[in-house]
Amino acid sequence: MTIDEIRDLLKEVKYPGFSRDIVSFGVVKDISLDKDKVEVDLNVTSPSEETRGEIKSQVEAVLTKSGGFSTVEVTLSGGSQASPPQKPAAAPVPAISLSDVKHTIAVASGKGGVGKSTVAVNLAVGLAQKGHKVGLLDLDIYGPSLPVIMGVNERPMMTQERKLVPLEKHGLKLMSFGFLTGNDTPIIWRGPMVSRMTEQFFTDVTWGELDYLIMDLPPGTGDIQLTLTQRLRLAGAIIVTTPQDLAISDVRKGADMFGKVNTPLLGVVENMSGYVLSGVVRGSDNQPISNATISIPGMDKTKEVKSSDDGQFTLEVDLFKRGGGHEESNRLHVPLLCEIPISLELMESCDEGIPLIIKDPDSPAGRVFAQLVEKVEEILPG
Ligand SMILES: Nc1ncnc2c1ncn2[C@@H]1O[C@H](COP(=O)(O)OP(=O)(O)OP(=O)(O)O)[C@@H](O)[C@H]1O
Ligand SMILES: [Mg+2]
Repeated sequence: MTIDEIRDLLKEVKYPGFSRDIVSFGVVKDISLDKDKVEVDLNVTSPSEETRGEIKSQVEAVLTKSGGFSTVEVTLSGGSQASPPQKPAAAPVPAISLSDVKHTIAVASGKGGVGKSTVAVNLAVGLAQKGHKVGLLDLDIYGPSLPVIMGVNERPMMTQERKLVPLEKHGLKLMSFGFLTGNDTPIIWRGPMVSRMTEQFFTDVTWGELDYLIMDLPPGTGDIQLTLTQRLRLAGAIIVTTPQDLAISDVRKGADMFGKVNTPLLGVVENMSGYVLSGVVRGSDNQPISNATISIPGMDKTKEVKSSDDGQFTLEVDLFKRGGGHEESNRLHVPLLCEIPISLELMESCDEGIPLIIKDPDSPAGRVFAQLVEKVEEILPG
């Protein structure tokens, strides 16, 4: 058996409590093979001894059952065993948990402007369209974008118990700093205040029962994000990146941050991956021409396509270096969830306040969002 075959075999082991396998969660750190002796090093970040023990014994069982090895050795790193002794914190920070929310998912990136909010909104609306109960929380205190992208900006009501009632639009429950402060107010708040405000968005909002709570995180991987993710006990994080190298190094920082707080990475979304050209080829008489060759030079190779019977064509063109998302998802052993093309319709839909997955689900980017929704449902069933 080769190392790759062993890795495939280990995909039979599911992460306890998830439908996803341990390989795609990045748990399998190292596999070494010496004749018929196999050694597997697992990096289980969960502090739960039960989870760690269960993964270890399942890996041992799968390898032993395969009959391919005389000796099977499984070691565990990460989590409680490997973590260095912690300095006592100044004040203990209890975790916030929302018992009525099945899955809390953060959409994050190390960098601004890569499309986190666009992805968060379309994912949330797409999940709601499938009949799930979904909340969307915009935690971007310095530049809340939910009011614009969702086309709603009202002051939330308060209950008698002084809890905020989320706004509802496009089938979602919504909360954003923007609803409270107005979109134009430049806010300069320091970390502790942001943390307190954020906490209130969890504890003092009547979210009710939800299958998914999607959080649009502010850009960066600083203290604020770290504290948030640490305290909120996320089901997982989705990292958004653009294909260029610079953004990719930010993905690493983002991924590392979630590693520090034991949050599984659900996968990477590559945004602005390429451009989908579409149109109709016409002759000088303005009649559509079928079977014409459209040829566009791309980054790696010239791409060609033939027009259809009615002259129509679509062709995906790379504007930037491709493959960064692929490389990074391989390195992290997490899936590349989707590649969203640059799309004028997507940009317009954000400005208009009607998410593309509602406005034009059959557009190239709309279809990619539908794939993303399916993958998230598969990883974390609602
Ligand atoms: N695939 C795309 N094609 C075209 N425009 C896009 C695409 N994705 C996002 N945009 C546009 O890029 C801009 C930035 O997107 P968005 O606000 O979602 O990014 P962000 O990562 O949330 O930014 P910030 O870090 O400021 O919160 C928006 O105007 C949005 O409409
Ligand atoms: Mg944003």
